[in-house]
Amino acid sequence: MSKIKARKGAPYARILGVGGYRPVRVVPNDVILEKIDSSDEWIRSRSGIETRHWANDEETVAAMSIEAAGKAIADAGITAEQIGAVVVSTVSHFSQTPAIATEIADKLGTNKAAAFDISAGCAGFGYGLTLAKGMIVEGSAEYVLVIGVERLSDLTDLEDRATAFLFGDGAGAVVVGPSEEPHIGPTVWGSEGDKSETIKQTVPWNEFRLGDVSNLPLDSEGNVKFPAITQEGQAVFRWAVFEMAKVAQQALDAAGITANDLDVFIPHQANVRIIDSMVKTLKLPEHVTVARDVRTTGNTSAASIPLAMERLLATGEAKSGDTALVIGFGAGLVYAASVVTLP
Ligand SMILES: CC(C)(COP(=O)(O)OP(=O)(O)OC[C@H]1O[C@@H](n2cnc3c(N)ncnc32)[C@H](O)[C@@H]1OP(=O)(O)O)[C@@H](O)C(=O)NCCC(=O)NCCS
Repeated sequence: MSKIKARKGAPYARILGVGGYRPVRVVPNDVILEKIDSSDEWIRSRSGIETRHWANDEETVAAMSIEAAGKAIADAGITAEQIGAVVVSTVSHFSQTPAIATEIADKLGTNKAAAFDISAGCAGFGYGLTLAKGMIVEGSAEYVLVIGVERLSDLTDLEDRATAFLFGDGAGAVVVGPSEEPHIGPTVWGSEGDKSETIKQTVPWNEFRLGDVSNLPLDSEGNVKFPAITQEGQAVFRWAVFEMAKVAQQALDAAGITANDLDVFIPHQANVRIIDSMVKTLKLPEHVTVARDVRTTGNTSAASIPLAMERLLATGEAKSGDTALVIGFGAGLVYAASVVTLP
């Protein structure tokens, strides 16, 4: 018989508040066209993207996170001291160690909250949400702050016409806390590491440090390019369209609801064509509000779902208490989907 005493947290968890931060600088397609042979029309029709935000020097990963988190904490009606854990999902924080989450937890004024980073690409929000729910039900934290934050402009090769127009910067955050009823449905998640080459960093840091010019990509002026995110656009597109609609359906099934019961659909904001295709495959009824924030925010990876959620609530397109399907997918390849009640 085990001698270990278990701890019991809340019966269930729910998202209590959401906040977002978009950098001040809005970058239209015209700016992207300065470096690649393309057109505003092509970018809009193939991706749906019209503008994105790029961070300035002051809009660091920590600064954007603190802004978004501050709003989420206020929205949840709690104080920073009540937060027991801070989970930061990002692929664009440039210090290998320590995690940026500890600095954020400190600057927000938490009481020495547990804090760590996770790397799950564009599924990062769903991964963080799943961890948060587990912590709350297990009792290791009463309130958990989940932040998705990216400065993808630092990892974008502006001369690569396949990716230059896709990415943006920003932070989105939610506070997850205790609930008497299930307001975050079962997560359907997974990884397909056999497809890890389809989205990746052009050059690993150690190879970049060695600076062997014969092996490294060069820019138009012959300088070694800083590592950037590269992808096999068509392969990722097909995977997202065919496989992720199935995962989204599984999340609906696991939550015991049908598309008819949904109010809102918030998929990862990668491409309007992927979103529209999922809407069709899932046969979402007309009444379901669909997030298409990618148009003006670009693809902000881990930040995209909370940013889209915040905007739908701020504009009144969605309301507190609505039932929403969220699904993130990307580099790994990884994915995570669940049905949640909006804060
Ligand atoms: C990137 C993406 C928008 C490109 O759209 P696409 O329709 O797949 O485009 P393709 O790569 O098949 O290229 C089609 C044609 O446009 C051309 N093209 C590529 N980039 C272009 C650009 N920026 N401007 C103009 N033409 C371009 C190609 O050369 C190709 O020309 P060809 O037919 O003469 O060979 C799309 O693949 C995509 O969104 N993929 C998924 C991205 C994603 O979700 N990534 C992150 C997941 S987290």
